[in-house]
Amino acid sequence: MFKNIEHLVRLAVVMMIGVLGFVILRAAVVPHSFGQYGHYRGAAIGEIASRPVAFAGHETCEACHTDVVEQKKLGKHVVVSCEACHGALAKHADDPSSVLPKKLDTAILCARCHEANGAKPKGFPQVATAEHSGGLACDTCHQPHHPKIETAEIKTEGKK
Ligand code: HEC
Ligand code: HEC
Ligand code: HEC
Ligand code: HEC
Repeated sequence: MFKNIEHLVRLAVVMMIGVLGFVILRAAVVPHSFGQYGHYRGAAIGEIASRPVAFAGHETCEACHTDVVEQKKLGKHVVVSCEACHGALAKHADDPSSVLPKKLDTAILCARCHEANGAKPKGFPQVATAEHSGGLACDTCHQPHHPKIETAEIKTEGKK
């Protein structure tokens, strides 16, 4: 029926070797638990769950630092969580005497949220930090947990 059918046979053999190679290679490299629950590695769930927890959560911080809670309640930073500024501190919360938090650099921290930017809502308090602070650390004037300055004697330039 076909002339020179051996060409087709050779082609079919080459393709079968290719398919077989793919199947063997796939069985060798796809992890055992792949597809157990869905299109991912089932064992990944256990691995992620066993990682140490990095964040303690603000309720944990508040149980010990009640003075800070009182300060925070009085100002608008009441909505900002402890670890949003202080970073993940589960290790400190577990063992506060041997793991002390790092000092924060307010020039970086406060600017992260308050650097003036046209994309921010108009009502959000924002300043051109370099001009506004005159190079001083933000907590020279602002109490970080209660940032509104009540005594309005301090005058600054560049405040928007
Ligand atoms: C089990 C009680 C406890 C818990 C929970 C705890 N702390 Fe502390 N924290 C302490 C103690 C004690 C100190 C050391 C105080 C000192 O030496 O003046 C401290 C110190 C600190 C300091 C440094 C103060 C300084 O003088 O440098 C910061 C910042 C701080 N804690 C933040 C946090 C945050 C944020 C959390 C929640 C993730 C937290 N702490 C959870 C007990 C606790
Ligand atoms: C808006 C950012 C911000 C938030 C939110 C915040 N802190 Fe602070 N906190 C600071 C800065 C800045 C300092 C002063 C620099 C430093 O100690 O690293 C500070 C200092 C501290 C200190 C040491 C001295 C002090 O003033 O009492 C403790 C303890 C502390 N924070 C705990 C907390 C806890 C607990 C919470 C949550 C209830 C919290 N902070 C929320 C920014 C913040
Ligand atoms: C994670 C974001 C975040 C960081 C970091 C942060 N703030 Fe704020 N800040 C806020 C929010 C949210 C408000 C409340 C805005 C509102 O409701 O209008 C606020 C309000 C303020 C206000 C206005 C207070 C008032 O009563 O009008 C000042 C001043 C201020 N922050 C200073 C600081 C200083 C200084 C630092 C650094 C120690 C800092 N903020 C760090 C989020 C942040
Ligand atoms: C020399 C003192 C001083 C320093 C340093 C300073 N501020 Fe202020 N800041 C003020 C005063 C005074 C006001 C006006 C009173 C108020 O709103 O609390 C103010 C207001 C603000 C406001 C509110 C603006 C608004 O539109 O309501 C923000 C946000 C702010 N400062 C952030 C910062 C940040 C971030 C830093 C550090 C880069 C900083 N400040 C450093 C004195 C200072």
